[in-house]
Amino acid sequence: MTSNGFSEENLVLVAGATGGVGQLAVAKLLDKGCKVRVLTRNASKAENMFAGKVEVAVGDIRNPETLPAAVANVTHIICCSGTTAFPSERWEFENKPNFLQYFGLFFNPAEAKAKAKNSPMKVDAQGVSNLVEVAPKDLKQFVFISSCGVERKNEFPYSILNKFGILDAKKQAEETIINSKLPYTIIRPGQLIDGPYTSYDLNTLLRAKTDGKLDVVLGTGDQITGQTSRIDVANACVESLNNSNCYNKAFEIVNQGKRPSVIDWNALFEQV
Ligand SMILES: NC(=O)c1ccc[n+]([C@@H]2O[C@H](COP(=O)([O-])OP(=O)(O)OC[C@H]3O[C@@H](n4cnc5c(N)ncnc54)[C@H](OP(=O)(O)O)[C@@H]3O)[C@@H](O)[C@H]2O)c1
Repeated sequence: MTSNGFSEENLVLVAGATGGVGQLAVAKLLDKGCKVRVLTRNASKAENMFAGKVEVAVGDIRNPETLPAAVANVTHIICCSGTTAFPSERWEFENKPNFLQYFGLFFNPAEAKAKAKNSPMKVDAQGVSNLVEVAPKDLKQFVFISSCGVERKNEFPYSILNKFGILDAKKQAEETIINSKLPYTIIRPGQLIDGPYTSYDLNTLLRAKTDGKLDVVLGTGDQITGQTSRIDVANACVESLNNSNCYNKAFEIVNQGKRPSVIDWNALFEQV
């Protein structure tokens, strides 16, 4: 039994495991002795990153038919997948735009969204919905990384952040998860800092320390704003597993104030 009450039968699926938060979450899960399966579109990237210590399921959350094998027998899902808030290569345009065309797309969100294959609506909203749809009905917890600002999309600076629909997509995903009746935990970070540590090995990831030196603050009702360390977001995902104070809750997480030597996650979760 691990510190999170994990037994041998528990198997955690991490979607977006090769990303900044995802790889830190995987490292932390492995450190706690959890069995981990990662969902990725790129098996060799995941195999190199996690050195054979995880099960690798190849899938794309936009394609529902690639997901059933990934979710088979999992007890928990941590979903840290996502695309960029603004048009970038990660939006996977039909025809790769040149610099001038990118510039044009910034002034034409409708055209950018229509031409992108991996836009926020396709990944962060529809993709998450596909994952929820195939999740085992007896799943113990679905942990989802959303974003600060989903409840105040029309306020600055979130009105700018949402120009291409990232907050609309995250909000839609939150609603899908809540309506699914799966036990859930929704974690809403501010602008992410620290990493992504994309070429690090697992041991280095575990030793990663936040540059920010700021404490972790949780909030509810989408009222706080700030930057958030990817390390703290990954730890929040893992620490929230099997913690009854986190069931069916949505909370914001930012870094503020003087950081103590140890973050007391239980005490933080009791506040939400
Ligand atoms: N950046 C910010 O300031 C910010 C603020 C608030 C919230 N967030 C959220 O925080 C989370 C983590 O962010 P991050 O910057 O650490 O992540 P990231 O490095 O951008 O990684 C995102 C991951 O999503 C996966 N992915 C993308 N499209 C996919 C698809 N169609 N199917 C399956 N997987 C897909 C990628 O995996 P593969 O390529 O291996 O498949 C990648 O590992 C994201 O949900 C993000 O939206 C970010």
